[in-house]
Parts: sequence; structure tokens; C-alpha cells
Amino acid sequence: MFPVDKIRADFPILKREVNGKPLVYFDNAATSQTPQVVIDAIVDYYSNSNANIHRGVHTLSQEATDLYEKARLKIQKHFNAKESYEIILTSGTTASINMIASGFSDLLITGDEIIVSALEHHSNIVPWQMLCEKTGAVLKVIPMLQNGTLDIAAYDEILSDKTKLVFCNHVSNALGTINPIKEIIEKAHKVGAAVLIDGAQATPHIKPDVQELDVDFYVASAHKICGPTGVGVLYGKSAWLEKLPPYQGGGEMIETVTFEKTTYAGLPHKFEAGTPNICGGIAFGVALDYMNTIGFDAIAAYEHELLQYGTGKLQEIDGLTIYGTSDKTAVISFNIEGIHPYDIGAILDKLGVAVRTGHHCAQPIMNFYNIPGTVRASFAFYNTKKEIDVLVASVKKAAMMLG
Ligand code: ALA
Repeated sequence: MFPVDKIRADFPILKREVNGKPLVYFDNAATSQTPQVVIDAIVDYYSNSNANIHRGVHTLSQEATDLYEKARLKIQKHFNAKESYEIILTSGTTASINMIASGFSDLLITGDEIIVSALEHHSNIVPWQMLCEKTGAVLKVIPMLQNGTLDIAAYDEILSDKTKLVFCNHVSNALGTINPIKEIIEKAHKVGAAVLIDGAQATPHIKPDVQELDVDFYVASAHKICGPTGVGVLYGKSAWLEKLPPYQGGGEMIETVTFEKTTYAGLPHKFEAGTPNICGGIAFGVALDYMNTIGFDAIAAYEHELLQYGTGKLQEIDGLTIYGTSDKTAVISFNIEGIHPYDIGAILDKLGVAVRTGHHCAQPIMNFYNIPGTVRASFAFYNTKKEIDVLVASVKKAAMMLG
């Protein structure tokens, strides 16, 4: 049996109350909660090892560098990257995506095509639109189907030798749909396009193997995987990372600097200008250790149970529609006929239940369903069926008050 009670004891925040009620935290797709072991790592770093890295001959600097580079190795192992220098530490998924978009502005020409999916978060749409404006490239979209999956037959039709880059999320943040990324990558490679996969919503539930996927770039954020905010990863195949220009100029990303000419450092430093989020990187490594100790297969199986339980219970409520009904992670995006999602969210909050409401930074999906937004309950491995019962009772109460 999944040891959820033992796991819950690792998360101090789960003991608190909100509006006089026990907190039921179902906004995990926005950010996950932080286990004590990660909080301890942050306190320990600032209490004992704080120094700048890669720069000092002194002991503290060497210790901090060692901790940071060990974290990079843990991240490499987790994603199964071939080389540690293919792991670039960034401030998060959005920064990772913008780095690649910026790098491609030197490689694309007018008439080249970029494909994105209809299921993207705004941070996966806007940088590519900006890139198209800069380069004259054209943005094409893989359409979505009613059940919240991608129309792969339509993808086949828009792929061509003009396609230079394909961009897709591994899991949709708004609906939880798990996309067939292996197939998407294979098809893109057949026409010579590079593929960037946004793993922000997948990594809390699935352990990706970047070599097995043969993906060119894979990006994710630590704070969705029990780590701190402000740190994330850009995995890139070394051949691509070597080809792309640096994103930012600064200290640490150079080999030599004169006023006439600067030469850049090798990977990963070429993409890591400035003092990074050292503590965040170290804590990211600790968070991955924590998740791996529980095990991603066990996490996925338990969350699937929660998803099925929650779906069954919520579906019994009159007028309730769930969006996204295919193979998915533990996300339930729903509306109740005639009631604005925001109003349901506000009442749930009064009852101690945290959900996200609105368009979830994925307006094209909401436009597709012709709705202003949804109520999104997103479960994590530390949630329980009892909490789902509280959600269901609270939604019923909200429907009664607002209906
Ligand atoms: N992208 C995050 C979410 O879906 C913030 O809530």
C-alpha cells in the first residue's frame, strides 16, 4: 500500500489550516509543496556553505561549487542525459524556453516553419511568436480534439521540410493530457526538425529518459517537483547546445575577455551567465532524491487511483463537465453549468480547499471549448481520498449556493 500518511508527515505545510479549515491543497500543477528534507537543505546551505561558486580558491567557495555540481549530476542521472554538461541550470521552464527561442533567432530564415501544439501554456506560445516576428518564420499549430488530445493526423499534414522546430508539452497544464511525445519527436526528426518538449507538468509524475526519447531539448522547473521556485533545467543535446549562441553575456560564461573580442566558455557555463540560484540548484537535487526514494512508478500508480476516485465522485454532481478525458495525469479541470469558475474557487477557498481557476495561461484551449476558464483540481502523491471527499462536498455546497 502507498504510504501516504508517512509521506504527509514530511510536508509541514499540510498541517496548517486555511480559513479555519484543514488545508486541502489541490493546486499542485501550479506549484508543489516542499518536504522538510528540502527545507532543511536550504537552511543548511545558508547556515553552513553559502559562497559564490566556480570563482573562489577558498574552502567555502569550493564546498558550494562541489554541492552545486553534485546537484547537476543528480539532475543528469534523473533525466538520463548522456553528459552532465548537457544539463543547464536556469531560473525555470519559461527561462529555458526563452533561451532556446533566442538561440534559434540566429538559425531561422523567412519561410521556415515552427510547429506548436494547441495544448500549450502561453509561455510555450509567446516566445515562438516573438521568434517568428524576428525571423519571418511561420507558426503552425497541431490542432486539438474534443477529448483534449492532439490531432496527430493533422500534425502529419503540417510537417514538411520547411519545419525547423517542433514544440510540445509532455503534459498539458490545463487538462493533464499526456501527449504522445515519442511519436511527435520521431515524426519531426524524419523531416530534420529539432524538438523541444516542455516537461513542467510531466516531471512531477513521470521520470523522463531524454536519451530514450531522443529529444533535442527538454525543460522543467524544480518547484513542480517538490523543489524551490526560481530554478529549473534545460536539457539539450550537446551538438545543439554547442551550435546555439549564448543567451546572456556576463561573468562565468566566458573563456577570455578583451575589449576587442570575447571567447565563450564551454558547456554548460556558456549558458549560465551570472551568479546562479546556487541554493536552489542544490535543493533541486535534494528534491529529486526525495521523489526517487518514493519512486515514480509508485507515485504514478497512486495518483492514478486518486484521479479515478475524484473523477467518479465529481461526475455524480449535476451539471458538472470535465474537460480532457484521455490518458492523463491527476488533473481534473471542470465547470458547473451556469456558474463562473472563479466563484466556485472563491467558495472552495473559504472551505480550505485550494484549486486554480481561470484560463490557466492556456487561453487557446479555453477558446476551443468556448468557456472563460475552468476549476482545476490537480493532485499530488501526498493527497488522499479523504481530501477528495472534502473537495466533492465543497463543490456541492458551492453549486447549491451559486446555482
Ligand atoms: N503553469 C502553472 C499552472 O498551470 C503555473 O498553474
